[in-house]
Amino acid sequence: MAGQTWDRVPIDAQSIEAPLSSSAVFLVLCVADGPSPLSTVRSVLDGLDDLIKTVGFRDLGAKLSCIVGIGANLWDRLDPLKRPAELKPFASITGTAHNAPSTPGDMLFHIRAERADFCFELEKLLLTTLGDAVRVVDEVSGFRYFDARDLLGFVDGTANPAGRDIPTSALVGDEDGDFAGGSYVVVQKYLHDLAAWNAVDTAKQEAIIGRTKVDNIEIDDDAAPRKSHKSLATIVDADGTEHDILRDNMPFGSPGRSEYGTYFIGYSRHLWVVERMLQRMFVGEPAGAYDRLLDFSTAHTGTTFFAPSRATMAKLAQEPS
Ligand code: HEM
Repeated sequence: MAGQTWDRVPIDAQSIEAPLSSSAVFLVLCVADGPSPLSTVRSVLDGLDDLIKTVGFRDLGAKLSCIVGIGANLWDRLDPLKRPAELKPFASITGTAHNAPSTPGDMLFHIRAERADFCFELEKLLLTTLGDAVRVVDEVSGFRYFDARDLLGFVDGTANPAGRDIPTSALVGDEDGDFAGGSYVVVQKYLHDLAAWNAVDTAKQEAIIGRTKVDNIEIDDDAAPRKSHKSLATIVDADGTEHDILRDNMPFGSPGRSEYGTYFIGYSRHLWVVERMLQRMFVGEPAGAYDRLLDFSTAHTGTTFFAPSRATMAKLAQEPS
């Protein structure tokens, strides 16, 4: 049948390595107090694969995928005994010029597909199933913009790890064996001042980002007086090892409301790596030399989750005996 690719099965829940998509929904929820909402959450975790198949099988070419992340407070309710080593609520940052706020969120659903209707349908089914066990605190529908550009006009995602490097950067390993295969997820919703950005000449924009605009070539700014976004977001430890994260940022917006945004999402093996990136961006390196991208982009949310492996998710889905 036209449009169908029969050589693929629906993509499993928690497939962090699933391909970057044309459409995405970022849904952040808070779970109501009490045991009954918790049971509803467990049953949704238990049935997530089936829900993905219910929607995704209708066109396998749409490559529907869904990752659920759990915040620290909800994690402690689901399993008071064991928590991923670094999991904690997003720590707000107060910089000299710009702040990264910490905002609530117990669950994140990161839904991706080649078709916006598939993201929509899965989100609808999830929210119907969760019912009044949850409250929606944020919902963003993102879209791929030309050749993977953000709304500032730059190609976004180039330096992501690829293929075999993805697990090394994005998945917890033996250092926290009970949670191996899971990933720390940090999200931030940014709104851009596009008029101010467009008033900046291209050479300065390129110096701020650290890549050329049209052809996406990396700019060596080691000797520059002020570090670019790319350099501030590069984390090298004392041994000289570079620590990457896996990003799947999406543009979103509404020209009619003059809303132009980037939804930042980063998956990381170690939460400290994302935290250090944020420190360098907001506080600056050296302190005060913050990321000038922030002069045109304001963070409105900031929330941390842990996306468990499928095996850990199956355990969380069990009612305690
Ligand atoms: C690189 C855009 C926020 C981490 C980049 C690049 C662009 C970009 C255009 C260069 C191409 C690439 O390698 O992807 C944005 C925008 C943001 C944003 C528009 C929000 C307004 C963040 C945040 C983090 C981050 C909050 C981390 C906490 C990175 C990393 C790189 C990068 C790790 C690659 C650095 C390297 O070359 O190794 N970003 N970014 N970005 N960004 Fe961002």
